Amino acid sequence: MLLKTALLLVPVAHVLMLDNGLLRTPPMGWLAWERFRCNTNCDEDPKNCISEWLFMEMADRLVQDGWRDLGYVYLNIDDCWIGGRDASGRLVPDAKRFPHGIAFLADYAHSLGLKLGIYEDMGKLTCMGYPGTTLDKVVQDAQTFAEWKVDMLKLDGCYSTPEERAEGYPKMAAALNATGRPIAFSCSWPAYEGGLPPAVNYSLLAEICNLWRNYDDIQDSWDSVLSILDWFMQHQDILQPVAGPGHWNDPDMLLIGNFGLSLEQAQAQMALWTILAAPLFMSTDLRTMSVQNMDILQNPLIIKINQDPLGIQGRRIRKEKSYIEVFMRPLSNEASALVFFSRRTDMPYRYQSSLAQLNFNRSMTYEAEDVYSGDIISGLRGETNFTVIINPSGVVMWYLYPIKNLEMSQQ
Ligand SMILES: *[C@@H]1O[C@H](CO)[C@@H](O)[C@H](O)[C@H]1NC(C)=O
Ligand SMILES: *[C@@H]1O[C@H](CO)[C@@H](O)[C@H](O)[C@H]1NC(C)=O
Repeated sequence: MLLKTALLLVPVAHVLMLDNGLLRTPPMGWLAWERFRCNTNCDEDPKNCISEWLFMEMADRLVQDGWRDLGYVYLNIDDCWIGGRDASGRLVPDAKRFPHGIAFLADYAHSLGLKLGIYEDMGKLTCMGYPGTTLDKVVQDAQTFAEWKVDMLKLDGCYSTPEERAEGYPKMAAALNATGRPIAFSCSWPAYEGGLPPAVNYSLLAEICNLWRNYDDIQDSWDSVLSILDWFMQHQDILQPVAGPGHWNDPDMLLIGNFGLSLEQAQAQMALWTILAAPLFMSTDLRTMSVQNMDILQNPLIIKINQDPLGIQGRRIRKEKSYIEVFMRPLSNEASALVFFSRRTDMPYRYQSSLAQLNFNRSMTYEAEDVYSGDIISGLRGETNFTVIINPSGVVMWYLYPIKNLEMSQQ
């Protein structure tokens, strides 16, 4: 009897499932890195340097400008917050820039209904040269983050070997779990292994991480958006199936509100990232955002699509003449999102298609809502030809849903 029990317990003890209940839909919030980098020059640039004051300002904006209520609840610190380790080896923040400490910042975020994310690196040093989490420090650092009441950890991979990463990421997942505090875990691991099998085991990642960076860091340019999109599309047969509730691919932050994208390109990034079921991490100065950019990021329908409870990542379903692409993401209630994307650089392009050509059920009638204009397109049957006018480096995005016929709906 005892032996039987012991045998039954063995598999449970050996399989570590990431079952922390977090991020059933992609995380939404604000992350410092892309916009504010490692600006530590608080003497000359006090309003923009990485400091507790910057995070408190952004926290206030997240609440006062309506972001939090739309789901943008994560306030995430990136690199350059660390001051060192104290005599007992415990991480301490930079005393000048974070004088009240990280626990204070977490309390501040929580008092506003936000969550605090923090950053470390599974190596000797962080990417910008601050103390990293070496294998012997993983458990202590997880405990420190939990004591500070941190809600998410992004663990980068600079200055580490493949062997250290292979041991360190699962070790950190176990250490976070052992703290008893639910802490979402963002792993940069696959990005350091080329992002593809066999070097990357996505089944394992889904068991230890809530999200993972697959590919290069995003930079503030349209070229960067396209290079990330191209890589994700080239490998969509590998990447699409591995995403789902609690475990997401992360093509990196949204650039919207910064300097590199036109308004059309900003709409395109938001639409394409939503098709990818990507985390919506803004990295921009929320204090100076234009109304147009705010409208893109606060569009309730696009947020609803991004946060669809089925959590199915979409795919590119058409690539025509190297400049028109169509993307589709299946959603709950038999709805779907369609994105028509143009890489042209001349003038608005008239793209003609039909739902039958896009492999939708021919026997049903659909209605679509244009996500950005709000227009309703009704009476779409399988064979109905439609034309969408797509601006250069822009998108048309539809929320498409079947209309039940009258007899059916009256039953
Ligand atoms: C730790 O893992 C167990 C088993 O997967 C899970 O039930 C529990 O919720 C996890 N706890 C935390 C705090 O993540
Ligand atoms: C990938 O990880 C899973 C889950 O841990 C494991 O069962 C599987 O054997 C691994 N695959 C390879 C090729 O190592």
